[in-house]
Amino acid sequence: MALVYLNGELMDEAQAKISVFDRGFLFADSIYEVTAIINGRPVYLDDHFKRLTRSCQELGFEAPMTQSEFSGIHQGLIMGNDLHEGVVYLQMTRGVAERNFTYFEGLAPTVFAFSKAMDILDHPKARSGIKIKTAPDLRWARCDIKTTQLTAQSMTKTTVNRNGFDDAWMTKDGWVMEGTSNNAFIVDDRGVIITRDLSSVILAGVTRMAVIDIAKTLGFTVEERAFTVTEAQNAREAFCTSTSTIALPVIEIDGEPVGRGNPGDVYKSIRQGFIDALLRPKVVPNQMPLSLKQMRE
Ligand code: PDD
Repeated sequence: MALVYLNGELMDEAQAKISVFDRGFLFADSIYEVTAIINGRPVYLDDHFKRLTRSCQELGFEAPMTQSEFSGIHQGLIMGNDLHEGVVYLQMTRGVAERNFTYFEGLAPTVFAFSKAMDILDHPKARSGIKIKTAPDLRWARCDIKTTQLTAQSMTKTTVNRNGFDDAWMTKDGWVMEGTSNNAFIVDDRGVIITRDLSSVILAGVTRMAVIDIAKTLGFTVEERAFTVTEAQNAREAFCTSTSTIALPVIEIDGEPVGRGNPGDVYKSIRQGFIDALLRPKVVPNQMPLSLKQMRE
């Protein structure tokens, strides 16, 4: 049986119990992070911690955890569940209180986390690509906060899956917002990479930011601006990014092939660039004297 983390302790999942009066359960008054684990190590953990802290501040949660607690929970689950590749999901709710729309100060947050083994580097859709259906964005006005209010995304994804599509890109007035759990990118006919600029209508993806950096390092021009469904259908390439997939090529939007209907070259170099950066051995400065010492011995 897998180990999970609940309020300071690692325990068997069957032992983990949360109150029925938890505001996460009653109001989705709750935030979360999903961090990739590759080769037994968390990826971009600092950025996930920063986003968690921001979500807590935006919702006025009492006691955001420290970075070392956040890191310790990840290490505990990686070791406890012998996780080599996959994700750690961590959720924090405002806490337990009598049901009331007004929340009061002083609640102790509930913190729950679990891990899940997954193929990220060798994701099955990374080579074949995904088919996207556009669908109206049914979400609230603060999509920049990573809350567990995911009913709109869940309904939308289930509907498009049942109609033979892999995922939906959520739209408003013909503009693409983002995927149900990923950020959307297109490549225009000049080879410029375009992704929506940050605002309250999308989530600031950790992978989105890393991919923008990698794209610039590889010499691509990146424009952060809104784009339309028509622009996406006429694009040379399209792809989406998230923690659990890195990047996946979009080969079809609403039944129209994107480009030649195959994973594009820009996508391929970005995905490879991301993986190379991740797997590149890092020089840890405080280990240098040790190896110098060893060389002299
Ligand atoms: N989803 N946009 C939305 C709406 C998301 O839910 C996510 C992540 C992203 C990508 O963010 P990141 O690169 O930080 O994973 C964008 C996670 C993976 C989930 O809900 O499981």
